[in-house]
This record gives sequence, structure tokens and C-alpha cells, in this order.
Amino acid sequence: MNSIPSLFQKIKIDHSWAFADKTRKDTTYLTHGYHRYPAKFIPQIVSRLTSKYTKIGDLILDPFGGCGTTLVESKVMGRPSIAVDINPVAVLITKAKITPIDPVKIEEEFTALKNKLVEYSEKIKVKVPTHERIDYWFKPEEKRRLAFIFAEISRIKNQDVRDFFFCGFSNILKNCSIWLQKSNKPTRDFEKKPSEPIKTFLKQIKMMLRGNTRLFDLLSERGYLKVPSKVICTDARTISAKTNSVNLIVTSPPYVTSYEYADLHQLTALWLEHTTDLSDFRKRFIGTSYHSKKDLFLNSALAEKIRSELLRKDKKTADEVSTYFSEMNQVFVEMKRMLKRGGKTCIVIGNTRLKGVEILNAEVFTEQLQNLGLKIVDIIKREIPSKNLPSIRDEQTGRFASIKEKNKIYVYPTEYILVMEK
Ligand SMILES: C[S@@+](CC[C@H](N)C(=O)[O-])C[C@H]1O[C@@H](n2cnc3c(N)ncnc32)[C@H](O)[C@@H]1O
Repeated sequence: MNSIPSLFQKIKIDHSWAFADKTRKDTTYLTHGYHRYPAKFIPQIVSRLTSKYTKIGDLILDPFGGCGTTLVESKVMGRPSIAVDINPVAVLITKAKITPIDPVKIEEEFTALKNKLVEYSEKIKVKVPTHERIDYWFKPEEKRRLAFIFAEISRIKNQDVRDFFFCGFSNILKNCSIWLQKSNKPTRDFEKKPSEPIKTFLKQIKMMLRGNTRLFDLLSERGYLKVPSKVICTDARTISAKTNSVNLIVTSPPYVTSYEYADLHQLTALWLEHTTDLSDFRKRFIGTSYHSKKDLFLNSALAEKIRSELLRKDKKTADEVSTYFSEMNQVFVEMKRMLKRGGKTCIVIGNTRLKGVEILNAEVFTEQLQNLGLKIVDIIKREIPSKNLPSIRDEQTGRFASIKEKNKIYVYPTEYILVMEK
């Protein structure tokens, strides 16, 4: 038996990493609550890893930065940081979250914007977007009001202020559309009554103003206002950070066949004109199966085994999963290049199941990183208490089970934090 799966089988859940006592308020403190984002991790994971493995001034990287959780935590802990994400919407959100604006200035800007927005009437001329996908998701009245807000934000000269308001604008789009509220998948709900855009926007900004003030005050108090944090919209395989420059990587990669970032963020991408071609937008993400399937190098015997098992069930899925593992290996090569000797990488990842085959992401990543020359420092298994949908497992083996099975037990989903050292 491959030694990595047997190593993983021995790992017990470490309950201290569940942060089960943390409320929503704790996980959305400072600017963390600005914007919803699928599969974001909680700031407590980042801060604990950061205190354990770095000191003030050390450089932190997140190659799959998402909505900027790693960067916010790094900044408040006095560590310079860099994040990369292929999704321009993630970059906009991150920029807003890591850029504290003088509370007096942003209040003035908000008052000026609010005064214009409350003047809205049907008589005011508004240039509405003509993209057919916008018409697909928005009813004419909400579209017109959103276009009015959008035009007023666009007039703001200061880019940080404009990004702050665009981030707020982005977060209200789902509520103001006919997107099925409970779903991250692109489904329309013709019964839905969309929220009124102007009222919703003002409420959203008030929430963000409180977060901004808290971040600004905390950073001023600690003398960290100028700690550099940078976010770049690019592919995780092409990061420009210098070789041997990074002390710590903290990241949660995308999952295979996960379309949710490209899907959900199409609303913002369409309004902010990040894209006019949605299929092209989707193709940029790792895990979305559009990429070339030639010259795959999985760099893991376990990944090869998963590929063979899948090939017996479904070739398309086998190709998708192999492409995913091969692309992740390319990211790991880059991560290793940027890490300093002795630097750590912490990868938060769970396992999944496709076509009846267990996709052991955590085990495969560990093997790939080992094959690249990194050493295991720690493997933490944690429960994810916020996802209160327990999955069904076999009592004896702990493996996924069907609802009909006799020995089934319900367990909370778990994930791993792989800590490896260069
Ligand atoms: C699980 S999320 C990260 C969430 C993040 N930890 C947070 O707290 O917000 C994975 C991210 O990987 C990004 N991603 C997917 N493919 C990418 C690629 N080729 N290069 C860089 N980022 C990519 C997605 O846009 C998504 O934001």
C-alpha cells in the first residue's frame, strides 16, 4: 500500500482547528465580511498559521488568493504579503479589503454619493448596459437603478474610493438579480422579488464603512498602515515573486470541476466589463476542465491510480481530474521556487468523490510536494463546523456511503491543512 494514504488514515481530527466557538461575527471581523465568496477560509486559520510559522516582516504569499483572507490577516499581523488570483472579481474584493481609507474621507465620499443616489427618479437619463446576459439576470427596473449607481461610482476620481464602492456594488448584484438566492449555480428564479438596488447598496456600504474604520484604527494603532500587500490578477503558475523570497504560503486551492467562481462572479464580471465572453472567462480557472489534456505530468503514483480507476468509469472525468492534478503540480513547482529554504507552505484542502471514486486531493498534493523535494512538517485534520450538512459515511471504514447503507453514520465534513517545508 502506498505509504501516504496509510499515513493519512492514522491522522486524528484536531478539534482545536475547527474554531467551533467562533461566531459569524468573529469570522467577518474587520473587512472580512465585505463580500461573499465561495469556499473562502476563515481568518482564524490564517492567523494561527502565521503566528506559528512567521515573524513580523516575513513575506507571505497566497497563490489562490480568493477574496483576500490571507492578505488581510497578514497585514494586521505586520507581514508583507502578495496574493494572486485569476478572477478579476477576487482581485477587486481583495483590493478593497486591504486598503484602509481614512474614515473621515470615506464618510465624506459616501455622503456625496448617497445624496446623488437618493435623487434617483425615472425621469433621470441613465445609460443602461446592453449585454444580453445582463438582461438574462436582471429585470428592467433593477437594471436601470443599478446602472444609475454604477454611473455615479464611475465618476469618483480616487481609485481606492471607487474600488471600495465597486466592491459593495458587486456584493449586492446577486440579491438584486433573479439568481436563485440559495444557489451558487447559475439558476434563475422567476418567482424571486429582487432587492431594491439603491437601498440595498446604501445598507451594504454602511456595513463596509464600519469594517473600514475598524481596519484603519487597528492598523494605525499597530503602526502597520504602510505594511505592503499586493494583489495581482494572474495565473498561479506565472507569479512574479522572486525566487527564494517567500517565508510562508497559506492557500486553499480550487477544486476539480468547480465552476462556482466563474459562474457566480459573472454578474460582477459583466457589469464591470471584466469580460464579455463568459466561456472564455471560465476557461481561465484551474479545475474547470477546459485546458489542454496533452503532456500531463501528474507527479504522483496515487494520482495515476485515481486516473486509472476513473478511466474504468468515465473517460471525461478521468481527463478532468488528471488535468487538474497536473496543473496543481505546476503551481507547486512555482511555489517551491518562490519559497525560501526552510519556508513553509500550508495548503487547506479537502477530499471529494466523483463517479464513485474518491479523489484524494490531500494525499495527492502531499505526494506531489514530496516528489518536488518538500518535507512534511505537520498534517492537520480539521472539521468544518460551518457547513452544517453532515455527509454520510460507513461506520467501519469512514468512507463515503450511500443513504441506503446499513452501517452509515453522519459526520461533519473534514479537510486537511498540509504543512510542508522547503
Ligand atoms: C478556494 S478559493 C480561495 C479562497 C481564499 N482562500 C479566500 O479565503 O477567499 C480558490 C481560488 O482559486 C482561484 N483560481 C482558480 N484558478 C486559478 C489560477 N489558474 N490561477 C490563480 N487563481 C486561480 C479562484 O478564482 C478562487 O478564487
